[in-house]
Amino acid sequence: MARLLEHINVPGIETFDVYRKHGGYKSVEKALKTMTPDEVTEEVKKSGLRGRGGAGFPAGMKWSFLDRKSDKPRYLVCNADESEPGTFKDRYLMEKIPHVLIEGMITSSYALGAKTSYIYVRGEYMYIIRILEKAIQEAHANGFLGKNILGTDYSLELYVQPGGGAYICGEETALLESLEGKRGNPRLKPPFPAVAGLYASPTVVNNVETISAVCSIVNESGDEYAKIGIGKSTGTKLISASGHINKPGVYEIDLGLPVEEFIYSDKYCGGIWKGRKLKAVVAGGSSVPILPADLILKTAKGEPRLMSYESLSDGGFATGTMLGSGGFIVMDETACIVRNLWTFTRFYHHESCGQCSPCREGTGWMEKVLHRIEHGHGHMEDIDLLVDVAKKIEGNTICPLGDAAAWPVASAIRHFREEFEYHVRYPEKVKNPKHFELEP
Ligand code: NAI
Ligand code: SF4
Repeated sequence: MARLLEHINVPGIETFDVYRKHGGYKSVEKALKTMTPDEVTEEVKKSGLRGRGGAGFPAGMKWSFLDRKSDKPRYLVCNADESEPGTFKDRYLMEKIPHVLIEGMITSSYALGAKTSYIYVRGEYMYIIRILEKAIQEAHANGFLGKNILGTDYSLELYVQPGGGAYICGEETALLESLEGKRGNPRLKPPFPAVAGLYASPTVVNNVETISAVCSIVNESGDEYAKIGIGKSTGTKLISASGHINKPGVYEIDLGLPVEEFIYSDKYCGGIWKGRKLKAVVAGGSSVPILPADLILKTAKGEPRLMSYESLSDGGFATGTMLGSGGFIVMDETACIVRNLWTFTRFYHHESCGQCSPCREGTGWMEKVLHRIEHGHGHMEDIDLLVDVAKKIEGNTICPLGDAAAWPVASAIRHFREEFEYHVRYPEKVKNPKHFELEP
């Protein structure tokens, strides 16, 4: 059952009054008036909620790492720098129902003991920034922000900060650097932000969807929330579906939904467009492996693949989960994997901050080699060269951008090697940009 998008189609739901009439801000009342901050954190732990930005790290555990003994101020920072290719669910949520995020920010800030909190919004989402600022003003005017919220002794100020305009500013430590007014370069971890984050103070950085989910968790209890989903993938998840499908859009699913149902059912993607066949899927934004049709529908063990952190985790890469940010990109049989990979790699090369050599140089090399294969000038040995460069990047960089650039390359060659060989063998054919279009 939808939690975040339950009232999305109610006219005026973006305003405080309508949102409130539909149960909005109840979690703030409940938390501030009847629960201690530790009790709120305990509910989030019990819910099993995992980070919805991409890494899937347990949110309650992250909250409990916050250094509460420090005499420095504590901060909650919302990562709304949504930039992962194929990912647009946070934008949808903030645009349509901004108060759910403001409510989640207040309840979560209370749990963490933060008196000042920030929402760092992707710079290109300028209109969203205005929507959020209006929502903050409304919350202030109604006593949900500012001094002595709802007559309690808890006070909070909430600010919206436009992002620096680079993909890397979404990496949590780069985001903190940018928020401090510096160039958004990732920091070495540890120390994690929970110990030394914004202005070297204890900080929790959570994604928009993660913070918004806290409202339902507090309202209905962590145990109830944990009943939705499967195994350690509890709750609902927003999925941004795009590519060659009949019904692209943002969907809220219960975790554990079979991937096949998500792609083919009319309730969600509505099947592959133009009656074509499914070729490949990138399930969690471009930073995860590309999987061929047979492997996205069934696991290597032949079991139905589910939309869950665990089921989407055997794509042949060491860490993380292919559910990622929930950016579900579907490719039909006409898609050219080499061109797709070249596009992804060009993006990572452009977005590399340049601090570490394997990422700065490696993404550039991969882009050049993929460009020449795609444009009919490749050599057979280029294919293994790509795998070699990807291996040298993986695990050898400061932040996950390096891994994110390497995984799609390694997985595409593993699963679609013959397509790369085809490009090398038949350069004349691939010089035609429509070389993978089906015959009419
Ligand atoms: P991560 O796995 O390094 O960290 C996850 C979180 O857990 C971080 O907040 C980290 O501080 C915290 N953490 C981990 N171990 C900890 C410890 N021992 N003590 C305290 N805190 C600890 O992953 P990261 O860098 O946060 O995210 C990478 C993911 O982001 C990728 O998998 C990718 O899918 C996703 N991504 C999403 C984007 C979007 O637009 N939504 C954009 C780019 C990447
Ligand atoms: Fe910068 Fe890339 Fe190193 Fe990340 S991995 S710190 S983006 S150079």
